[in-house]
Amino acid sequence: MQSAECGMDKQTQAWRDETPGCRGRNHLNNAGASLMPQPVIAAVEEHLRREAEYGGYEAAEEAEKRVAAVYDDVARLVGACPANIAVVENATVAFAQALSAFDFRPGDVIVTTRNDYVSNQIMYLSLARRLGVAVVRAADLPEGGVDPESIRRLAANPRCRLVAVSWVPTNSGLVQPVEAVGEVCESLGVPYLIDACQAVGQLPIDVRRLRCDYLGATARKFLRGPRGIGFLYVSERALARGDHPLLLDMRGADWTEADAFRLADGARRFENWEFSYACVLGLGAAARYALEVGVAEVGRRARTLAERARQRLAALSGVRVLDRGADRCAIVTAQLPGWDANEVVSRLRQRGINTNASVRAYGVIDFDDKGVQSALRISPHYYNTTDEVDACVAAVGELVRERAA
Ligand SMILES: Cc1ncc(COP(=O)(O)O)c(C=O)c1O
Repeated sequence: MQSAECGMDKQTQAWRDETPGCRGRNHLNNAGASLMPQPVIAAVEEHLRREAEYGGYEAAEEAEKRVAAVYDDVARLVGACPANIAVVENATVAFAQALSAFDFRPGDVIVTTRNDYVSNQIMYLSLARRLGVAVVRAADLPEGGVDPESIRRLAANPRCRLVAVSWVPTNSGLVQPVEAVGEVCESLGVPYLIDACQAVGQLPIDVRRLRCDYLGATARKFLRGPRGIGFLYVSERALARGDHPLLLDMRGADWTEADAFRLADGARRFENWEFSYACVLGLGAAARYALEVGVAEVGRRARTLAERARQRLAALSGVRVLDRGADRCAIVTAQLPGWDANEVVSRLRQRGINTNASVRAYGVIDFDDKGVQSALRISPHYYNTTDEVDACVAAVGELVRERAA
């Protein structure tokens, strides 16, 4: 057994043995979509097979108890009750459903950050265009990351209807101080929406500590679930207010009279009727797997690997590591001299290394502040090894030298 923090010890080997994708690739794109472990693959495959053999509706009925258990497992993962979990298609749908629950009027204010996720920023701007909502972004701290005191000042505006924060943005390794923002929101009595898409599976989540009204996430990233499924936590406070999405379907409400409907109890009112049940079961398996491996511990390992990548990249001539903030996670971004990041990604892929590119349009404010058009994004997870991180950095080093020659 190796004692090095991130070497190939027995535990790492066991995680890798359960991850078929590890065999053929050096997968450092967990912020894009992580590799699914065997129990997740089995849950999805088994249900698909059952749908094919038995019928889609019939297979869903047969799986009813296992589907109900998905809510228990996701709830445990975030410190909530099962009735406060809605299963939705992805993090974007989760966010949109929550956002649409607010009856915004012209002049109402949404307070957000300079680093919120691109699609969320577009949704705020769409609300501004259609409804005349003012979108106000809180100032950052000198070291990066939003200043909770700036949020306090802006959210104290009596027209502030919502504070919305992406915990970990897609375009850098920043971790926003979501707990401190939660304290501010609670003290002002302002609703609080968190996008936890890149946080779930790499950072422990307890919605009670976050004091949020809503928290949305997706399965496929650090949680290691399948693509095409996510969830939304809806607080008791939001349910008691009678919050519901603007456009409900027959799962979210019952049509009781020609001109009347009755809301479903609990967070289910935020769901749509049609589900990929195979993916729902895959989400449950991923949540159970994450609970078993222990998010706090494996998240630390992922962040240690990321820090190693940052230090080694920074030592390469001309490479600029772009991640800011007091607290940084398992997403590493870097600018490579003379390269468009998309080109680097495809050259690394040819060598069996999966990474991703972040481009200006994914984080206009952040990228303009940093003066970059694109960045290579390397996102290790706990099943990766130091050798994999080092191999990736070595390959990046060769590309840097190639362009410099
Ligand atoms: C911070 C953040 N929020 C939301 C999303 C959207 O997730 P989905 O594609 O599951 O809707 C992403 C995707 O990269 C993300 O990084």
